[in-house]
Amino acid sequence: MKALLFALAASLAFSAQAGDVAYPDGFRDWNHVKSMILNKGHPLYDAVGGMHHIYANKKAMAGYKTGKFADGSVLVFDLFEAVDKDNAVSEGNRKAVVVMAKNAKAHKETAGWGYQVFDAKTRKATIDAKGQADCHTCHVAQKDKDFVFSAWRD
Ligand code: HEC
Repeated sequence: MKALLFALAASLAFSAQAGDVAYPDGFRDWNHVKSMILNKGHPLYDAVGGMHHIYANKKAMAGYKTGKFADGSVLVFDLFEAVDKDNAVSEGNRKAVVVMAKNAKAHKETAGWGYQVFDAKTRKATIDAKGQADCHTCHVAQKDKDFVFSAWRD
């Protein structure tokens, strides 16, 4: 019983910290910002190797243009296996849906950005506050662009 209560408390704590970034339903209808393939040998291969596309909702599109992302801005890093076959590289299975969502009040410790990684199949959140802090540590390099790496071009 005690173990059960501990497990319950732990999972409640997890959802309270990590659950405030929602799965970005319908993001494939948003603006496509860019795509990139990270091959074996790239320093980020283990974490996010494969093919990814970045999508932005309307508010995030305004953010790319002004350099400041308002609350409600959502950016999605849609990650797939890259299948290299017959001299062509195509999308394989989805590996994860990686999200940044701006909510200044909820994420004071990470400059207003909520970070989350959703399981490709279950669409459940997979990282906790510690993981979110790790995301931000790298994104801090882009502080002058409101912590966003990618750029929009027409
Ligand atoms: C070691 C550095 C590093 C870490 C750690 C990192 N990112 Fe990123 N992230 C990047 C880079 C570089 C890009 C730009 C990729 C591109 O140009 O296609 C990026 C892009 C993104 C984007 C698209 C918006 C943008 O900034 O261009 C999202 C969303 C994102 N990351 C979320 C996360 C989440 C969530 C985590 C933690 C689980 C995380 N990142 C951890 C380096 C990092």
